[in-house]
Amino acid sequence: MTKKIQCLISAGPTREWIDPVRFISNPSSGKMGYALAEEAVARGFEVDLVSGPVSLTPPPGVRLHRVVTADEMEKTMKELLDRAHLVIMTAAVCDHRPKKQWSEKLSKEDFPKNLEWVKNNDIVRGLSAARKNGQKIIGFAAETTDAMAHAAEKLATKGLDWIALNDVSQKGIGFASDFNDVTLLSSAGETIALGRETKKKTAQKILDRVWP
Ligand code: C5P
Repeated sequence: MTKKIQCLISAGPTREWIDPVRFISNPSSGKMGYALAEEAVARGFEVDLVSGPVSLTPPPGVRLHRVVTADEMEKTMKELLDRAHLVIMTAAVCDHRPKKQWSEKLSKEDFPKNLEWVKNNDIVRGLSAARKNGQKIIGFAAETTDAMAHAAEKLATKGLDWIALNDVSQKGIGFASDFNDVTLLSSAGETIALGRETKKKTAQKILDRVWP
């Protein structure tokens, strides 16, 4: 019997807490990652879906791992990396977290005028540094200016096989939308425009390319 393809996908935003009732985050809906997870299951892959807080129903058949912070997402992705053949990092990970997290709710009066920030680890960079032969790693890049150049730089510095660029300056695509307009760049130098599509169709086209 042939072994099933193991696919590890991250999706959604992370939350970085200031105090028990306040956090910093971003508007990622998780739709692109969930569409990829659903399509991977349809192709017979076994899917670990590591999801930040979103309001989507997980696709039937995935193993869902719920996380909240970037630290939790990193820990879970690292634990699951070993068995994965294909890793797709769609999550909109917060780049920073507050240096101090208050354990009690801050009153309006006590709320600090300025917050200090520390950088979260780049999760996908760590995964690609730790990967074994044959594992494929795909990242995403949401850009507004110099989109191609920024995506190409991230492809190289993060050590990815592919990066899926979406230009979020275009209206009606990207964050929270049901549509996307992705260009795939590969470490082998390919540039493939997938066109404006539903996230479902975009997921199909991405998997056709990255795991043919
Ligand atoms: O650098 P930037 O955040 O634009 O890169 C986007 C890619 O890097 C996405 O695949 C995202 O999931 C990943 N990323 C990460 N850890 C971070 C920030 C981004 O894995 N701390």
